[in-house]
Formats: sequence, structure tokens, C-alpha cells
Amino acid sequence: MSSAEHHDPRLAQKEAAGRHAATYVEDGMRVGLGTGSTVHWTIVALGERRLDIACTATSTQTEQLARSLGLQVVPPDDLGRLDVGIDGADEVDPDFNLTKGGGGALTREKIVGQMCERWIVVVDEHKLVDQLGDFGTPLEILPFAPGVVASRVEALGASSVSIRPGGSDNGNLLADARFGLIDDPRGLAASLDAIPGVVEHGIFLGEMVERVVVAGDGGVHELVNDR
Ligand code: A5P
Repeated sequence: MSSAEHHDPRLAQKEAAGRHAATYVEDGMRVGLGTGSTVHWTIVALGERRLDIACTATSTQTEQLARSLGLQVVPPDDLGRLDVGIDGADEVDPDFNLTKGGGGALTREKIVGQMCERWIVVVDEHKLVDQLGDFGTPLEILPFAPGVVASRVEALGASSVSIRPGGSDNGNLLADARFGLIDDPRGLAASLDAIPGVVEHGIFLGEMVERVVVAGDGGVHELVNDR
């Protein structure tokens, strides 16, 4: 499908943001591929350009898509550092903090994002928020004691922790915690990091982000993070 065929303007925005970010990839690069319906279009654009690049993928879904388009996909350990990574987000705040993990790939996304020299986020403008939290905070949880882990998360202020059906690509559980609007993403991230059994959480701090490519009614623009 191309943008001309999108009936929903938001889908056209996802395509515009995703394709724009692909212009940051050049021949010979090591590239991190995110997961979701926006970065989908980055991957499609990379496949169309027939670049000679080595990619690592943040989910089996992305790996399958990239391979089907002729891109080379290898494990993260084969590449070590990545020149550029591109990924979507569920929420972006004014300090470039993100909520991620709506698609359940948060752990691999954080690992791959942190491997990148330049990490670029692609969103439609509806993802821009004043404060993180409305979306909920995705969690990947070890299946060993989900009830215990959920009660520790609730003790941090979550009104609920709901386990999703199915699981992650890593064989763990996925859940969504509701903290309401989050006043201190850095503090909450540190508190979640400290709970044994929380494999990863979907708060990605702004220092990871080099820029955000935003597509809206008026076209594509970039928010550059002067970290
Ligand atoms: C995957 O786990 C998520 O972090 C996605 O990157 C995020 O949900 C954005 O997805 P869309 O681009 O499909 O909105």
C-alpha cells in the first residue's frame, strides 16, 4: 500500500514519518530496525532502495518483514555498535522521554536503541503529549511470580497492572501499568528498574533520542534533541 491509498490520514502520516527517517540510512551502515506500524514504512523504504546494509531487528515481526524485502538481518551481538536505529513510540513528551512497548517489543527495542550512535523516533503527531502516562506503561515481566511483581508495581502508585494475553518474543509476560500522568519519568523508570522480575519497562528516557520525525496534517517536521 502507498500513501495515496490510505483512507485514514493517520495511516498516511505513519507512512510519511517512516519513509522520511529512511533517508538517514546510507550504504554500508549497521542499522537497528524498530517495531510497529510506523517504522514498518522505514523498513519498506530501505528494502526499496536496495542498500547494502546490515540490520538487527527488535522483533520477529520486524525480522520477517525485513528479510522478506531482501534486507540482511543478523543478531545484535554480530554488530555491536549500530550507526543508526529507527523506531516508533506510543508517546513522546517535550523532553523527548517516550512511552514504548504498545507492540510488546520494548525489551529488544531498548537494547537495540542503546546500541545506536543515532537513534531516531518516528511518530504521527497524535503521539506528542505534554506528559507521559495516558497510554499506560508497558512492562515485560518474568512469568515466575507475576502477581508478586504486579503488587510491587502497584506499590509505586499504579492503579492497575493488567497482564496481556500472549507473551513477548522472549517468552515473558507483557503487562500494562496505569500510573496516570507521570510527573517524574526518570524517577519512575529507576523505581521500575529496581523491581526484580520486571524484565523491562516502556519508559525510554530522552537522552537516548537524537531526533523525532513527526508527521502531521502539515507534512513532516523534525524535533531535534540538543542533548
Ligand atoms: C513496539 O513495542 C512499540 O514500542 C512501537 O514502537 C510503538 O508501539 C509504536 O507503534 P506504532 O508505530 O505501530 O504506533
